[in-house]
Order: sequence, then C-alpha cells, then structure tokens
Amino acid sequence: MDNIAILDFGGQYTHLIANRIRRLGVYSEIVQSDISASQCKRFKGIIFSGSPHSVLDAQKPGFDPNVLHLGIPVLGLCYGHQLMAQCLGGQVVAGKYREYGIAQINIIKQSPLFAGCDIREQIWMSHGDAVAILPPGFDVLGSTDGCRAAAMGNESLRMYGLQFHPEVSDTPHGMTILDNFIAICECAREWNTQTFLREMGNDIKKKCGAKKVFLLVSGGVDSTVAFTLLNKVLGEHNVCGLHIDNGLMRREESGAILAYMKAHGFHNLHIVDASDRFLAALSNVADPEQKRRIIGTVFIQVQEQALSDLGLNPAEWILGQGTIYPDTIESAGTKHAERIKTHHNRVAAVMELLERGEIIEPLALLYKDEVRELGTALGLPESLVWRHPFPGPGLGVRLLCSDGAEVSVDPATSSGVLAIARRAGYEALVLPIRSVGVQGDGRTYAHPALVTGPKDWNGLEAVSTEITNKVRGVNRVVYGLHVQDAPDYRLVKAYLTKDRLELLRSLDSIVTDALHRFDEYRTVWQMPVVLLPLINKQERQCAVLRPIMSQEAMTARFARLKDETLAYILYEAKKVDGLGDLFYDVTHKPPATIEWE
Ligand code: XMP
Repeated sequence: MDNIAILDFGGQYTHLIANRIRRLGVYSEIVQSDISASQCKRFKGIIFSGSPHSVLDAQKPGFDPNVLHLGIPVLGLCYGHQLMAQCLGGQVVAGKYREYGIAQINIIKQSPLFAGCDIREQIWMSHGDAVAILPPGFDVLGSTDGCRAAAMGNESLRMYGLQFHPEVSDTPHGMTILDNFIAICECAREWNTQTFLREMGNDIKKKCGAKKVFLLVSGGVDSTVAFTLLNKVLGEHNVCGLHIDNGLMRREESGAILAYMKAHGFHNLHIVDASDRFLAALSNVADPEQKRRIIGTVFIQVQEQALSDLGLNPAEWILGQGTIYPDTIESAGTKHAERIKTHHNRVAAVMELLERGEIIEPLALLYKDEVRELGTALGLPESLVWRHPFPGPGLGVRLLCSDGAEVSVDPATSSGVLAIARRAGYEALVLPIRSVGVQGDGRTYAHPALVTGPKDWNGLEAVSTEITNKVRGVNRVVYGLHVQDAPDYRLVKAYLTKDRLELLRSLDSIVTDALHRFDEYRTVWQMPVVLLPLINKQERQCAVLRPIMSQEAMTARFARLKDETLAYILYEAKKVDGLGDLFYDVTHKPPATIEWE
C-alpha cells in the first residue's frame, strides 16, 4: 500500500498530520526523526513535522540529511519547514514577531500545492522563528504580514515548506493542500474506515490474548465507545466496565450514567463511589500538575481495589482505558514532544502498566472526531456520541486552587497589556493567577489578562491575539462580563473543597441548561466553567466561562455565545450564593489550552 511517512520532531500536531493523510485515503506512518535515508526509500512522500524546539538550538532533534536527496517529494511543516530551509542552504532567524493563531496568507506564485486555494487564505500559525533566506532553487509561494516565507517550494525537486499548519481545521483549505501533496506524491488512495475497523478488531484480539478486559468507564464519549467496541469484538462475558465516582463529576452525573447504560442494554457495568478518597488525596494541593498526577494515580488504585472486591482474578484480566491521542501527545508521549499537561490516564502508574503491556487502550490512536465516527458506526445514539467532552479529572482541573501566597506580576507585563488594550478601546489588568497554555508546541504557565469595555467579539479576538502574541507572561485573555468600574480582585487561599465544588457544579448546571435551552449545545464543542481563587470587592468568588469550537481538541477557537444564552447564564448565576464576577475566556488554543490547568 502506498505510504506517506511523517518524521516526528516532537510537534503537537504530528499525529494529526497522519490522521489527515489517512482521512484522505492514504496510509500514513509516524517514524522517528532520525530514521536513515535508506529506510525511507519505501515511502511515496515524506512530511517533516513541527517541534517544540528551535532549529537555532544546538540540541535540536536531527535527521539524516540524505532524506532530502532521495527524489521523494518532501513537505516541511513549521519547524520542518525551517529545518528543510536550513539544511538546503537557506537561513532561519529568531522571529521579531511571534505568531500564534489565525493569519492570512497571500499566495504569490502558482503551485500545484495550492491548486483549488484562493489567492488569499486563512491559515493557522504557531511559531517564533522564521525562514529569512530561502535555499537556492526555492521560491516564495506565499507570505503573511509577519512572515515573508510562509510558504516556499522547489517544483522540480517536488519539495515544499509551510510555516503554517495545514493539518488543523483552522486552516480551512488545509485538507486541500494536503490532498494536493498526496497527488504530487502520486499515491493510490487505498485506505478507508472499514480497513481501519478490521485492523482495530484484530489488534484488540491480539493484545488481549486469553485475557478479559476490566475497563474504566467515565460515561463520556471515549470510554463509552471503547466499552461498546470491546463488547463487540470480545463478547460481553469477556468485558467488565467500572465507573468510578471520583467526587469531581457534574451534578448527579454518575447515577445518570449507570441508568443510561442499563437502559441501552449494557449489563456488565459496575459503579464505585470513591469520592472521599479522591477529595482526601487532593486536600491542600494547589499545583495543577500535582493535582493531575494524584487523580490519575488514585484512579488506578481504586480500579485495582475494585477488581479484587469483585472477586476477579487479576491473572485473568487486563486493565482498559478509553485514552485517545491528545491525552498521549499533551502528556509528552512521543520522543521530542513537550509535556503540556499530564492527562489522568498518562500518570506514572499507568505508564508502568503500559510498558509491561498490562493495559489496553483501543482508541489510543484516535482523535475525538474519529471516536464519534466510530461510535456512530457502532450504532450508539446521537445523544451520547455528541455529548460534550468532559475530562477524566473532571471539575478537579476546573477548580483553581491557591495556597494564598502572593503571585507577583511583572510591571512590564502589566504596562504592555494596558497599552495594547487602551489602543483598542479597552481597559485591562493582569490577574494574579496562572493558567496553562501551549505556544510554539511548548507548555506555558502564565497570567490571564482581564479586559473590560465593549462586548464586540471581533475587537476582543483582535485584542486577545495581540496581547498574547506580544506580551510575554500572558497566555490568556478574559473579558469581564458586567464588571464594575475599577475592578479589584484579591487572591485568597482556596483548595478543592466540597463547598467550592458545589458552587462550580451550580454554575456548570446553569451553563449546560442554557446551551440546551437556546439550542447551542451542538454548535458549541465544549464549555468548561472554571472557579478561580480570586474574590471581588463583595468577597464573592470569580469564575470563567470557556465556550469553545473545535474538531479534535488540538486547536480550538473561543465560541461566541448568542446574547440570549449569555443573558440567561448571567441572570441565573446571580442567584448562586457566593458567586461573584464572571469572566468570558476570549483566547484560542493556542496560545491557551481549553482547560485552565
Ligand atoms: P486542553 O486543556 O489540553 O484539553 O486543551 C484538550 C481536551 O482534553 C480534555 N482533557 C482531558 N481529558 N483527561 C481527559 O480524559 C485529562 O486529564 C484531560 N485534560 C484535558 C479537555 O477537556 C479537552 O477536551
């Protein structure tokens, strides 16, 4: 079968590129970046991925330069584009202007790579360095305002480099560009969902051997699809589902999940209430990564305990999880990738089990959109397949904690934010807390900026992009909804307590109700709500609304809720005891992540 290789330099989107190529009907394989040129001869095309590293670093991940002289078409993306330029005699410099998010490219030279694209296209960027001098024989194919060599190519060598990411859905004609590259590689389209499902079934049987699967079922889309798939491939008597109530679920969620599963014919699902155990382990913990590690570890401990409580012989059972690909990549699951956050199913205890081959994850190579497709193909109802994603650590990562110690903000950061905001007609201040972001394929843990002023979505998008691109120390921008003049917020000592969880649950219920009531549940992809360790002048706790649009969670745009939805949320939220100002997150991913920690 014709095969396109992706050389993995550790970019956050490497696997997404492979996913896109397969969606276009061609098998695609991810290989280590240092693969030898002779091993590459079997490929019909080669793609160089992005990376959290800079090509200007001495320690950058390398590759065999002979790969560029095999006569096979090559497409370099982001870091891959720069690496190709550097190796072929061009020059890369540290960019004066970093670009994260949406940009516009002007196509200035016709190329088969851009067949079917418009002369000006929206693209999606995440870079600091840039190609300043092209290698001999290459032409600039397209430029953005901040980047002259946003696309380069040498048609006779069939080599191309793109500073932007065609694989993400925020580059609307990205699939057209990848499709054109496949055509340039002269690949036959022989890969489809049926081939894939067959391979998955064989793979599950091979991995399990004579063992049965004891699967964690949170009730979300991924674990339910994994449960259904395993039941189908192995038979119900060889699968046992376990739902753990970790005390971090939404209001009345666990009971509803069990009832739902029973109603849909699943009889091999058990439920364990471990909420006290989770809350005890999390008391007095403020660091987000530590919280994530604790939650993931307690999950495994409870799962092992439940196996023995149910009288199942551990020698006959293998543990299972509904892990999907973003969980792996964001937890630094590939050689050169940086850890953005430790997903609950990627903590040390799980990694040890994985290494020993004692855990099965049938969906580990898939993205959310593929999981949904699979769920539909397996006959799951739409209401389940289209549930909003909910993270395994649940509200645990939506409840920001603090030990109360002052968080100082660099005055240069504050003045930088204020200058940009005022030029755009807003007031602003930098909040004394931090949240996680992803910029240039690396993790950031930086301040959010709060802007107040007119609720004009375009204006807010522009100011958010400018602040996060230009001001170091800020990776997120929130908009103050009904914030009083001269807002003033105080950081307080706040941990994961039942009271705070209840407050967040109340807001979460209001939001879910509003999305259904005003018909936005299907248009909005996910809508976390986040409680902050900040109080306003009335001593009430502040919270964030984080509605986003996405396809597979690797990139996301903040969603623009309808006025009536927002008005309803604000009206209902006022009735919640102890809840103060609400902020609306107006940051895309990158530079911010979807969740705050
Ligand atoms: P971020 O915050 O990394 O989230 O942009 C991407 C998607 O993953 C979900 N998420 C998780 N899901 N375990 C999960 O099962 C986790 O530890 C976890 N952390 C984030 C998040 O809700 C979003 O859909």
